[in-house]
Amino acid sequence: MVSKTIPVKSFDLVIFGATGDLSKRKIIPALFRRFIAGQVPPTSRIIGVSRRDLSQSDFNILVRNSISEFAPNIIFTENQINGFCKMLNFISMDLGSDKGWDGLTEFFIKNSQEIRTFYLSISPALIESCTQRLNSFKLITPQTRVVVEKPLGTDLASATMLNKILCSVFKEKQIFRIDHYLGKETVQNLMALRFANVLLEPLWNNNYVDHVQITVAETGDVNGRGEYYDEVGAMRDMVQNHLMQLLCLIAMEPPAHFDADDIRNEKLKVIRSLLPVNIKDTVRGQYQGANGSFRDHVNNPESNTDSFVAIKAHVSNWRWAGVPFYLRTGKALSRKVSEIVVEFKPLPHTIFPDLGKNYQNKLVIRLQPEEGMTLHIGVKEPGPGGMRLINAPLDMTFAQLTGQIESIDAYERLIMDTCRGDQTLFMRGDELEAAWAWVDDIIADWDESKEEPLEYTSGGPGPLEATKMMSRDGRSWEKI
Ligand code: BG6
Repeated sequence: MVSKTIPVKSFDLVIFGATGDLSKRKIIPALFRRFIAGQVPPTSRIIGVSRRDLSQSDFNILVRNSISEFAPNIIFTENQINGFCKMLNFISMDLGSDKGWDGLTEFFIKNSQEIRTFYLSISPALIESCTQRLNSFKLITPQTRVVVEKPLGTDLASATMLNKILCSVFKEKQIFRIDHYLGKETVQNLMALRFANVLLEPLWNNNYVDHVQITVAETGDVNGRGEYYDEVGAMRDMVQNHLMQLLCLIAMEPPAHFDADDIRNEKLKVIRSLLPVNIKDTVRGQYQGANGSFRDHVNNPESNTDSFVAIKAHVSNWRWAGVPFYLRTGKALSRKVSEIVVEFKPLPHTIFPDLGKNYQNKLVIRLQPEEGMTLHIGVKEPGPGGMRLINAPLDMTFAQLTGQIESIDAYERLIMDTCRGDQTLFMRGDELEAAWAWVDDIIADWDESKEEPLEYTSGGPGPLEATKMMSRDGRSWEKI
């Protein structure tokens, strides 16, 4: 099966912070891949903006180096990279002052395309001055989009302020708030699974689902991002956005249409239905290991920040009343894996004791690695010798299904969606604020309790207390 690539319309994309880490690691390689795939028309223009004083050829070299360093698997010809470089432009300017903005304005006066995207890959502290100048220099047209990246606030107050700043110059329809988890292949497949098939819907509720687990485990530690991470911790860095978005997609009601606002309305309802969490239903941890402890890595011997979080959450509505949603994420764990497990209730009565009287069907949805799904069902063990039953994992790896060895990176999909103006996979302002409101209450309880995060050993499954949280409920985590 060959995937179809539908070219987007020619566009102008301005990357503020073009020489920064995100741009080099993700944005530039993503644009290049889509260019090679024929999705980005060569008449498009990519305008890199940075405070650094680079010449055009220095910037082109930076782009080439980013591609070879961060996307070493891309196979391309010299003609293709030259073609890509022809779309590049570079402007040096300081976002905190008016200096250099005339250069950007002129750039659009001379020649301009209908679709204009401003990608703010910059420190949150610069967002206000940048958006205000985009406005005062009259750079915002009806077909303009703005892309903003994490961190989208650090609590409800700062997220509300950020939304206010953006909404003072852009319409909500023009604002694309990235949560790169929404750009992952399996996340879209999750919607397909739920809303393109009749099979699961009758079971997708508290009559049949025992509980849901959402795990985003990482082997990496804070990886040189110590200062940032010590400020945010796993709760703000991962739970507030990636894990809550996954929870929304599992728990939401079917939207009336596959339309950005219909989907986001349903996700918002889920967030608003989340019950406040009892602190006893949370676990916070900090790793310790041979390669140094969390406190060493963030260079703060007193740090009280979490590198691991587990939470038992409840979505209080008719569909999910009484079904726990267990969320878990952490750094320095034994395996990098992001997956959702939907465990169904035990059979009401068993006639096959081999399976155990509490045998439960289970659907495992893997976001990474090896995107796919596994449905655990009871089947007869093949061969002669009587009727013996076993639990068989029915495996659907998407790569096998589509014949694609490598799926596209989340950023490729999300950047192309901004060009198309499709907000389905982006967070709306009210969703963002509702998520912060829920998370803020948990953090406030932690702060009040003054309890320190529990230690866990790097390379393991996380704090023992997280295992106990499950076993108290007679359940266990899927092995990381
Ligand atoms: C980012 C977090 O949003 O997601 C990082 O800031 C984390 O701390 C990363 O490592 C994980 O993303 P992925 O796609 O590698 O699972």
